[in-house]
Amino acid sequence: AKLRVREALGVRDASGECVTVQGWIRSVRSQKEVLFLHVNDGSSLESLQVVADSSFDSRELVFGSSVQVQGQLVKSQSKRQNVELKAEKIEVIGHCEAKIFPIKYKERHPLEYLRQYPHLRCRTNVLGSILRVRSEATAAIHSYFKDNGFVHIHTPVITSNDCEGAGELFQVEPSSKIKVPEENFFNVPAFLTVSGQLHLEVMSGAFTQVFTFGPTFRAENSQSRRHLAEFYMVEAEISFVESLQDLMQVMEELFKATTEMVLSNCPEDVELCHKFLAPGQKDRLEHMLKNRFLIISYTEAIEILKQASQNFTFTPEWGVDLQTEHEKYLVKHCGNIPVFVINYPSALKPFYMRDNEDGPQHTVAAVDLLVPGVGELFGGSLREDRYHILKQRLDRLGLREAYQWYLDLRQFGSVPHGGFGMGFERYLQCILGVDNIKDVIPFPRFTHSCLL
Ligand code: 4AD
Ligand code: MG
Repeated sequence: AKLRVREALGVRDASGECVTVQGWIRSVRSQKEVLFLHVNDGSSLESLQVVADSSFDSRELVFGSSVQVQGQLVKSQSKRQNVELKAEKIEVIGHCEAKIFPIKYKERHPLEYLRQYPHLRCRTNVLGSILRVRSEATAAIHSYFKDNGFVHIHTPVITSNDCEGAGELFQVEPSSKIKVPEENFFNVPAFLTVSGQLHLEVMSGAFTQVFTFGPTFRAENSQSRRHLAEFYMVEAEISFVESLQDLMQVMEELFKATTEMVLSNCPEDVELCHKFLAPGQKDRLEHMLKNRFLIISYTEAIEILKQASQNFTFTPEWGVDLQTEHEKYLVKHCGNIPVFVINYPSALKPFYMRDNEDGPQHTVAAVDLLVPGVGELFGGSLREDRYHILKQRLDRLGLREAYQWYLDLRQFGSVPHGGFGMGFERYLQCILGVDNIKDVIPFPRFTHSCLL
C-alpha cells in the first residue's frame, strides 16, 4: 500500500507490512553496513526513518532529492521513533543539486534568510510547521462558524467601494493589451477589496449570522512587521446584536475555540514554533486562553497612557489614534491578557460605525482587540442602523451618492447589527510567537516586494 509519512508513523505494532512511501530526503547518515535516511512528505513534522543496507548507492541519495521507497514497515529499535521502513527498493525521482540548493543540510537558517526563497523555504521544518498550523487554523475557523450557525459568504475581491475610507486602494484595470470598447472596463473605478464588511452587512440582513474569510488588499506603504499588502481577513457580521458585549463575546470565543482546536490538532507543529521562535510562548498563550479578556474604553486607555507618556515617541492624547507603542504598553499594563478597547472618537473611525450620542465627546461603538506581541488583532463595531443619522453622516462626508444602496438598507427592515474583522496573519503571529508577519504567509506581498 502507498502511505503518507504521517500514516506510516501512526501504524501501531508494525509487523513487516509492505508499503511504499514518497517524499524528500531530509537527512542521510551512513554507518558501516547500513544507511539511514529520513524522508518527509509534509504530512507531518516528523520524518520517516528508512533503513537501507550497503547495497544501495548512497551517492544518489542526497539531501533534498525526492524518492520513492518500497519496503517493510517494522517496529524500530530506537526510542526516537515507533516504526521504520526497511528499504527493499529506493528510486530517486528527482535529484537535488546540493551545491546550489539554498537550503543547506543540517543548518538552521534564520527566517530572514529563508524569506529570500519563497519557492523553497516550505521544505524546512519551521516553515513546514507554520504553514501546517495555518492550514489547521483555517479549518478551525470554518468549523467554529459552522458550529455556531454562521453562513459562509464569498464576498467579492473586486469592488467599487473603499469600505475603510482610508484610501489605501489598489486599482484594478485590464492590461493595456486588452481592447475595451468603453473607456473603462467596469464603467466605474474598481479596486481590490480592503474589507468584505459592506457586502457582509447586505447578507446579514438576510442570513442573520454570516462570515467571510479571504484575501484583502491594502496599499499600505509601510515596512512594518505586522502589515502586508495582501493579507487574509476573517470577518463576521451579526444581526440583532444589542451591544458591543455581544460582539466581544463572539470575538473572544472565536479566538479561544480556534486556538484550542489548533493546539489539539497539531501540537508538534505549535511546539516546534514555540521552541525555535519564541521560548516561553507556550505559557504566554496559556495565560491568554485561561483568562477572560479585559475591556477598557478608549478614554480610559488614553488616561493610562498619559500616566506613562515619558515612555513614548508619540504623546498620547484624546482624539488621536493609538500607535503601536501605545498598544504594546496597554497590553503589558493589562498583565499580558488581550484587552478590548471600546468607544473611540468618531473622527478616528470609518463612516459606518454607530454613533454613541454621548454629546461633545462624540464617540462611536467601535471595538479593537489588542493582544500581546502584536497589538491590534481585531477591529469591529456596531453599525449605524438608523436611517436619518446615517444619511446625515453620508451627506456631511460627501459619500451619499456612492453609498445610496447602503443607506437604502436602513429603509428595508433595518436591524441593529455589528461585526468585526480579524487579521489572520496577525492571529498566527500571536499564537505562534512569530515576530515578522512575512513568515506566516506562504507568499508575502509588501512594498517593493512581490516575489514569484
Ligand atoms: O481594523 P480593520 O481595518 O477593520 C476592517 O477592515 C473592518 N471593516 C472589519 C470588519 O468590521 N468587518 O482591519 C481588521 C484587521 C486588523 O485589526 C488587523 O488585524 C488586520 O485586519 N489588518 C492587517 N493585517 C495585515 N496587514 C495589513 N495591512 C492589515 N490591515 C489590517
Ligand atoms: Mg483597525
